[in-house]
Amino acid sequence: MELTLNDIKFIRETVHKFGYPLNEIEKYAKENFIPIAKPEVADFLSFIVRLKKPNNILEIGTAIGYSTIIMAKACSKVRIVTIERDINLAEIAKENFKKAKVEDRIELICGEAQQVFPNLTKNYDLIFVDAAKGQYIEFYKEVKRLLSKEGVILWDNILYKGYVVNEKNVKHKRRTIVYRMREFIEILHQDKTLYTVILPLGDGLAVSFKEE
Ligand SMILES: C[S@@+](CC[C@H](N)C(=O)[O-])C[C@H]1O[C@@H](n2cnc3c(N)ncnc32)[C@H](O)[C@@H]1O
Repeated sequence: MELTLNDIKFIRETVHKFGYPLNEIEKYAKENFIPIAKPEVADFLSFIVRLKKPNNILEIGTAIGYSTIIMAKACSKVRIVTIERDINLAEIAKENFKKAKVEDRIELICGEAQQVFPNLTKNYDLIFVDAAKGQYIEFYKEVKRLLSKEGVILWDNILYKGYVVNEKNVKHKRRTIVYRMREFIEILHQDKTLYTVILPLGDGLAVSFKEE
């Protein structure tokens, strides 16, 4: 017997609950239809940052700073560079960083990730990719360049609401994303320098580890 939707619901109910200001950010995101990490993905982010204790993290897709704060709170020494193209969301994120008292460890760069990447010269111990799903193939080379030896990449929404596996009910406008995601998953699995697993968390989370 395999896991059912009820099991997934149960897992979602058992994840750690985050206090202020994350609980308020969750509420704001829900009321304003701003996509943030699903509870089990958020909990896994917290888990992996606690386990890996990275010196630095790169995040692509800040939105209002929910996942950024979770990662900052999970390791008191970590410094985070996070990229967001929407200036209005970026402004809200900055306010949220102050509320969470983590603003001194976070650099928010407002811009298109593809244009920001060439200006980044450091390597990052953990990279969280949570931006436009159709662009993961474009991000891939630069994200790999920016990854430290033994670094970890988390690619969120890899199964895109389940459409990547079951495309029957996919509307035409979403098909391109589905095909691009499938192509991307194939690229990840062919890549001999990364060891990648796909976890059934949220919308699907791929975790890649750089073996060298
Ligand atoms: C799912 S939301 C991020 C949620 C956030 N990581 C969290 O869990 O709290 C995706 C964000 O990525 C941003 N984004 C999408 N494509 C981008 C790109 N190419 N460069 C920078 N930001 C991008 C969107 O504006 C959006 O705010």
